[in-house]
Amino acid sequence: MDNHRTRRAALAAAIGTLTMAGVAAVIVAAPPSNAATATLGSAAAAKGRVFAAAVANGHVGEAQYINTFDTEFTGLTPENEMKWDTTEPSRGTFNFAAADNLVSHAQSHSMKIRGHTLVWHSQLAPWVNNITSGTDLLAAMRAHITGVATHFAGKIQYWDVVNEAFDGGSRRQSIFQQLIGDSYIEEAFKAARAADPTAKLCYNDYSTDGVNAKSTAILNMVKDFKARGIPIDCVGFQSHLIVGQVPGDYQANLQRFADAGVDVNITELDVRMPTPASQANLQTQADDYRKVVSACLAVTRCTSITVWGVTDKYSWVPNTFPGQGAALLFDENYAKKPAYNSTLTALGGVVTSASPSVSPSVSPSASNSTSPPPVGGCAVTYDMNAWNTGFTTSVTVKNNGSTAINGWTLAFTLPSGQAVTGAWNATIAPSSGAVTARNMSYNGTIAAGGSQNFGFQATHNGNTAKPTAFTLNGSPCSS
Ligand code: G3I
Repeated sequence: MDNHRTRRAALAAAIGTLTMAGVAAVIVAAPPSNAATATLGSAAAAKGRVFAAAVANGHVGEAQYINTFDTEFTGLTPENEMKWDTTEPSRGTFNFAAADNLVSHAQSHSMKIRGHTLVWHSQLAPWVNNITSGTDLLAAMRAHITGVATHFAGKIQYWDVVNEAFDGGSRRQSIFQQLIGDSYIEEAFKAARAADPTAKLCYNDYSTDGVNAKSTAILNMVKDFKARGIPIDCVGFQSHLIVGQVPGDYQANLQRFADAGVDVNITELDVRMPTPASQANLQTQADDYRKVVSACLAVTRCTSITVWGVTDKYSWVPNTFPGQGAALLFDENYAKKPAYNSTLTALGGVVTSASPSVSPSVSPSASNSTSPPPVGGCAVTYDMNAWNTGFTTSVTVKNNGSTAINGWTLAFTLPSGQAVTGAWNATIAPSSGAVTARNMSYNGTIAAGGSQNFGFQATHNGNTAKPTAFTLNGSPCSS
């Protein structure tokens, strides 16, 4: 038996001993046999994918920001630093300082780099909008692409050569479309190929996440380019989604582009919701991220997933959609959200006790500051979001008593075949059978008439039944 298996056998024996000894202190999820699947990037790599994030140079000096990024991601897209207004602020004068800093950081961490974006109607340098002739604009566009792509040549895995050129099923009437005409897109791709033969060249757009007029128009352009030998290697699907609205044909749409002979990349994934975020929406968001990741893994040529930011703290969403936000995998305090757990699980990773949102469980027999049972009873609401191999839950515990509870333990029995893989707002032990959920340091009080909410993710073997009985600090709850 090789060392690897020896270690695993020893670990299994150790857990067995602990369990047999009646000590229920069990890590909610046993450390992965290969720790290399304990982060988003490492789990994705095990599936042959890059899991990346958009990064803002202005935040890389913040320790939690850059540490979270470096730990969890294996790819980088500069959020704004490679856009025309930054890289060529005046005609023929290039500025790469901010982008170079991000590229150097990514290279020093062996990360893949996505260039974003060479030609886009937004964030153009003002001088571009003053051009009045198509000939001059074509020359300026070619010079811009050549200047930028040459500077980064050899360092870019994928370039977003042209961004958001369609408006529904037709061309957006940008300055490029109006002055140069339809050919500006293929001219951009040819210039990019000439400047950097090593990068894969992509078209990138939003609201293309299902089969619709816009995505079909782009597919037709891809087929036309392929037929005419215009260099195009991939299509980016931004996937700026609204909670609960992942198109049912998301995977089929990706597949039809792969079938046309291009890589498909999820390039700007986020799932926005009204803020402050409700537990229900956070659960739905977790399932939305799972759906997108599962769809990408099901399409061989879906080679990378990029989320549009590291943390909710700096997401573009609140500035653009007032009252919306909470769109990413880490919250504004860099805590892992349910969507982090569902994404990591969907990637085949293992949510470990090292995850801040998943705490090592403690034995319910340990000294317990739990207060006595609630006088007047309690009520439990147990909501589930299930899929073929797992589910997430949102559990709300209501104190119907007349006095506050300071310290709570909710006991229930998981139906057979179900096993907890990650939890938030509670510690859960053991991971199956008769389990207890205990409060965290920050949510131990349930006021008279008040409630607390926690959740967990679990695997199942087809049995998605709910627990039938709950006790709160030993007192039966209605459910
Ligand atoms: O850099 C200036 C700063 O000097 C100035 O003081 C400040 C005043 O508001 O503005 C700063 O520029 C901002 C820029 O981000 C850099 O932070 C712009 O106002 C702001 O509009 C710009 O927003 C970016 C947005 O693209 C522009 O459309 C977002 O950060 C960025 O996340 C977003 O990303 C786009 C993708 O590139 C393409 N797909 C859609 C996606 C979301 O819009």
